[in-house]
Amino acid sequence: MKKFIYVDGQGLDTAEAYRLIVGCVVPRPIAWITTINGQGRVNAAPFSSYNYVATDPPMVAVNITSKGDVLKDTARNIRDSGQFVVNIANEATMEAMHASAQEYPPDVSETDALGIDLLPSTRIKPPRIAASPVQLECRLDQFIALGKGHNTLYIGEVLAFHLSSDVYDGQRVDSVAMRPVARLGGPYYSGLGEIFHRPMLQRPPGGEGWIHQTGTQFPPLKSD
Ligand SMILES: Cc1cc2nc3c(=O)[nH]c(=O)nc-3n(C[C@H](O)[C@H](O)[C@H](O)COP(=O)(O)O)c2cc1C
Repeated sequence: MKKFIYVDGQGLDTAEAYRLIVGCVVPRPIAWITTINGQGRVNAAPFSSYNYVATDPPMVAVNITSKGDVLKDTARNIRDSGQFVVNIANEATMEAMHASAQEYPPDVSETDALGIDLLPSTRIKPPRIAASPVQLECRLDQFIALGKGHNTLYIGEVLAFHLSSDVYDGQRVDSVAMRPVARLGGPYYSGLGEIFHRPMLQRPPGGEGWIHQTGTQFPPLKSD
């Protein structure tokens, strides 16, 4: 018989709570966020406590921890400017994305230090990462301190999508072609792995359901 180990969620120390939650909530998509500070310096860092949280308008949320009272550069820049770009991290950009998590002083730009090419945004000031297949220009909607105050959830409205024609045909995003990477617990990443297909049971908002075009956008799927 399967045995379960019970762990009380209340009263865990921060490190243990972190280990448990990041081990259980997997795989996590990665927001590779670009922001700018008051001097116009570009900051880039990855965040996997991230997801979309609304569709009308489209909104994303990212949780950024603070080191004591000190905000991470990304959090400080988002608060000060109200703007950020979520760049999708994929296999091609994984090394640069990972390297940009290193702590650089606020006066050093990760994108300069790592030679990451940028493109101007359309609606906001922070630039986009050119090598990312998709970039989302976001306006800070609100931020919410959570729990004991080590975590803050930043919720942004997506003002603009930039989608490479390699992954978007004008209607649908080819998530397989995007080759996104996800974060697991510990120092591990994963790719998409095996893909399973089931017919959709509800219509998505405003959608007609997803019809799999065999042999076009997606590789052959298991149940087809
Ligand atoms: C894949 C990955 C995911 C991460 N996810 C988060 C996260 O969700 N929240 C967070 O506060 N830090 C996260 N980090 C750590 C930040 O990237 C790291 O603290 C970075 O130095 C912050 O940079 P900044 O001070 O320039 O904003 C993650 C690191 C990696 C490598």
